[in-house]
Amino acid sequence: MAKAKTQFVCRHCGYRTPKWMGRCPGCQEWESLEEELTKPSSGAGAKRSLEPVRPTPLSDVAAEEVGRMATGLDELDRVLGGGLAPGAVTLLSGEPGVGKSTLLLQAAAGLATRGRRLLYVTGEESAAQVRLRAERLGLDLSVLWVAAETRVEAICEMMSDGDWDVAAVDSIQTTAASDVASPAGSPGQIREAAARLGSLAKSRGLPLWLVGHITKDGSIAGPKLLEHLVDTVLYFEGDRERSLRLLRAFKNRFGSVNEIGVFEMTGSGLGEVANPSALFLSERPEGSSGSVVTPVMEGQRPLLIEVQALVSASPLAMPRRQSLGVDSARVGLLAAVLEKKVRLKLFDRDIFVNVAGGARISEPAADLAIVAAMGSSWVDIPAPASTVFIGEVGLAGEVRSVARLEPRLNEAQKMGFTRAVIPHSESKKPSIKGLELLPVKSVAQLLRTHMGFK
Ligand code: TYD
Ligand code: MG
Repeated sequence: MAKAKTQFVCRHCGYRTPKWMGRCPGCQEWESLEEELTKPSSGAGAKRSLEPVRPTPLSDVAAEEVGRMATGLDELDRVLGGGLAPGAVTLLSGEPGVGKSTLLLQAAAGLATRGRRLLYVTGEESAAQVRLRAERLGLDLSVLWVAAETRVEAICEMMSDGDWDVAAVDSIQTTAASDVASPAGSPGQIREAAARLGSLAKSRGLPLWLVGHITKDGSIAGPKLLEHLVDTVLYFEGDRERSLRLLRAFKNRFGSVNEIGVFEMTGSGLGEVANPSALFLSERPEGSSGSVVTPVMEGQRPLLIEVQALVSASPLAMPRRQSLGVDSARVGLLAAVLEKKVRLKLFDRDIFVNVAGGARISEPAADLAIVAAMGSSWVDIPAPASTVFIGEVGLAGEVRSVARLEPRLNEAQKMGFTRAVIPHSESKKPSIKGLELLPVKSVAQLLRTHMGFK
């Protein structure tokens, strides 16, 4: 047998080097290179067919009729772009405990009621644990198929043998190919397992789900490796304390990446939230002043958050300026702008600003929302309903344009908002159906036109 080769692979970007280095030259991440042993004769490369492929004009390529397979969970189907496409490999990622396995089991049950069989391969839990969960979810156990298996070869055999309509592997980090020497969960194993399972799924036209855990910093372990290997990347998000769960497409070869699916984790599984804005707003104090919603960008993704402000007469010689979830200096600056440019008396008021739900704002695009929240609390008039506020505020009180306005507006519309106060310079933006755009030039105009200031 030939000698095994050692390589080092970056866990973040997939950079390869024969030598270990403290810092990855590809993505500049420290200590991200992991050793990987490969037996030389193995791997996808060695098995490539030598039969040449002839280039053809695109017009001669047979158009595939992509028949979609609905799972019956509307929120999921919508994010997928209308259900599972044949041979599509979907990565379902999220933090441990967010509900990935639950979502898959419920999707399996939905498929079963449509006469489709899903092979659920579990490497995380035993078959008995899966049964317990299915019982808790009140699902029909006799139509659900489970296999506790972590070996890629065995999973491939199962996928080829049975008469399956869909396969799911939970999770890719527990799956290992026996001819790759590195342990399960290492970049080499993840890539190899995903590549083999994916190519088998493609060749059989079998839609395949891969579950992938994301690490604390929010990236899928071996993210770049996996993202390139799959057709669709879905993120399942939400925190443990709250029941709201959002499903977002990060990449989708078979649909748009703008759709989000909204679920609620209940005692009996994930419930679909047909009207997300209603749920979202239910956490907001009703008809109360000082509460304003703004879409912020979290990396590539827009997220709606609530900014709250409380402006009240201060008994102190040095009124308090406190903020949670947003930079205090920024709040101080915006308060100074209000004081100077709108003559809003704030010097004898305590100002508290809070970003609800433990979120954090780190971009100036939320300035206008902070100003609106403070203004609303000062006059003690609730901000206009179903309205989001987007814009950076300059020292002259001018409202400045923001980056990536469109995804923010899309998100607001999707979450049920009907109006958006935006920077005047952006008023030529193509309109979004169901969302009225209200451009403002200055903080003064914002307060007079929209916040009930005289
Ligand atoms: P799970 O699907 O195991 O998460 P993941 O596969 O992403 O790690 O779900 C984990 C959590 O969901 C668990 O902490 C308990 C909770 N849960 C409910 O609240 N209700 C339910 O009906 C189920 C099945 C789970
Ligand atoms: Mg799980």
